[in-house]
Amino acid sequence: MRHGNFDLEAGASSNWHILSHLWPYLAESRRRVMVALLCLLLAKGAILTIPFLLKYLVDSMDGQALQQIAPMALAGLVLAYGGARFSNVFFGELRDTIFGRVTERAMRRIGLQVFRHVHALDLDFHLNRRTGGLARDIERGTTGVSFLMRFFVFNIVPTLFEIAMVIGILFLGYGIGFALITLVAVLVYGIFSFRATEWRTQFVREMNAADSASNTRAIDSLMNFETVKYFTNEEFEARRYDLELERWELARRKNRLSLFGLNGGQALIIAISQTSMIGLAAHQVHSGLITAGDFVLINQFMIQLFMPLGFLGFVFREIKGSLANIEKLFEILAIKAKVVEPEQPRTLEVSRGGILFNKVSFGYREDREILHEVDFAIEPGQKVAVVGASGSGKSTLVKMLFRFYDPSTGSILIDGQDISTVSLHSLRHAIGIVPQDTVLFNDSIFENVRYGDPEASDEQVFEAIKLAHLDDFIAELPEGEHTMVGERGLKLSGGEKQRVSIARTILKRPPILVFDEATSSLDSKSEQAILTALREISKEHTSLVIAHRLSTVVDADKIAVLHHGRIVEQGTHLELLENDSVYAELWKAQQLKKRHVD
Ligand SMILES: Nc1ncnc2c1ncn2[C@@H]1O[C@H](COP(=O)(O)OP(=O)(O)OP(=O)(O)O)[C@@H](O)[C@H]1O
Ligand SMILES: [Mg+2]
Repeated sequence: MRHGNFDLEAGASSNWHILSHLWPYLAESRRRVMVALLCLLLAKGAILTIPFLLKYLVDSMDGQALQQIAPMALAGLVLAYGGARFSNVFFGELRDTIFGRVTERAMRRIGLQVFRHVHALDLDFHLNRRTGGLARDIERGTTGVSFLMRFFVFNIVPTLFEIAMVIGILFLGYGIGFALITLVAVLVYGIFSFRATEWRTQFVREMNAADSASNTRAIDSLMNFETVKYFTNEEFEARRYDLELERWELARRKNRLSLFGLNGGQALIIAISQTSMIGLAAHQVHSGLITAGDFVLINQFMIQLFMPLGFLGFVFREIKGSLANIEKLFEILAIKAKVVEPEQPRTLEVSRGGILFNKVSFGYREDREILHEVDFAIEPGQKVAVVGASGSGKSTLVKMLFRFYDPSTGSILIDGQDISTVSLHSLRHAIGIVPQDTVLFNDSIFENVRYGDPEASDEQVFEAIKLAHLDDFIAELPEGEHTMVGERGLKLSGGEKQRVSIARTILKRPPILVFDEATSSLDSKSEQAILTALREISKEHTSLVIAHRLSTVVDADKIAVLHHGRIVEQGTHLELLENDSVYAELWKAQQLKKRHVD
């Protein structure tokens, strides 16, 4: 187990407070809960009459009494018995049906809350997340919530109430003996179950952790299907997966064995107390203190009491399990994003789209700075290129502009407004990005393009497709624009994916455009065609272009050269050539290579 003992203890005692998180969901459907509680009362009321009816029935069977009782009254008793049995089950079912809506609503609310929350978390969280495990944690958590709500409201509290009633009835009707046995049995049973269940929680957690881990492994392996094949590592993957499964199997076994211990102990406690009750009752019948009917009544109460008590043990166990599951869910909900909305967000007003990087320093980790006091401006309407070696921090710069991360020092301004003071929505809405690696939804090409503006009409989507030079490709497809692109868009070629991505951004029509190696996967001819289109589109827009192939940015208003996270040079193509430094060298190297290729 990853946690030390100390942590486990703390977790075990504190997770009850999770219950308080559920009240709002109950309060929301107050009336439904009330009606369900009424059904519960009716069901419990019905079942409490059964032992009495049985007692009168048995006592009236007695030879003497049988002559005194009217047949009609006897039939009434029998019918009442049947009615009570039916009411008990009927109102129980009615209660579940009515309350079902409440739990389903709560599951929906929590599901959505978690979804929104996870979406609001930092990019870092998502880069580190293990999709398979996360999905399992969320799923178990929401199921746990539903279980907890249902059983806490309808089992624990009412069963305790029922126990008190029965002890009261036994005490008033038959003296202290029976009441005492019941009370002691219930207490011992309760304490034992509580202790044993607390002890078992560690196994439940271990089991869940193993379950999430194996799921993570499976999903990760399947997502990398191609890589597995390329390196013929199927056996390796299977072994790794089996290792996780083995851990899971072991955890399940421990869980089951401890469950056996718990169930066995509970059964023993129940058996001992039932034997004592029956013994005492038999003794009293024998001594003529109570009638055979009383014996039946006591026996019936006991059966009725220990049934829910046994169930209570199960419920308590499950609740502890649910709490462990929900704990995980709330842990996810408790993760705080580093990049958050400003307290009083203003809406970013983009009039001309000037961008200023003001001495921006940043590192993904404290101990490794990636950008060092990056200082440069993009005048409104300009096209500015950032070039530099792989790993110099170009994509990082884009992520900073999009506010996936905040600078450690310095600031970024758009039209004079610090991007950390405006709403994330207005900021991200104003910028269109064609990222370095495009990932698509497993949907049709058409819908993937429409994602740039879900409100766009079909005509607008077709126009964007045309501008991105996707139309020729689509014309070749048997299913045209309705062709599915496969998981993460893997059924398209790299260049096709890039063009879908460009079409998307064209459709978004933001005032600021960012292209991170947007045409890197295209051949020279398609690249030129698209560059012309992009030039057309970005005419009145500010654009930031990142490119390896310098020939694609010679026309930029300004080129900034990023070297190990520092801007070492900036100016127009000609100025930089004249400078005869880093850029000039890069240029010469690429020209040479080009000549070789040609
Ligand atoms: N999420 C991350 N966590 C830690 N380090 C990261 C992360 N993303 C990028 N880096 C590191 O930051 C550095 C800059 O990365 P960046 O993606 O900005 O480079 P780049 O200039 O875009 O390179 P390329 O031309 O290859 O795309 C790299 O050394 C990279 O390893
Ligand atoms: Mg990059």
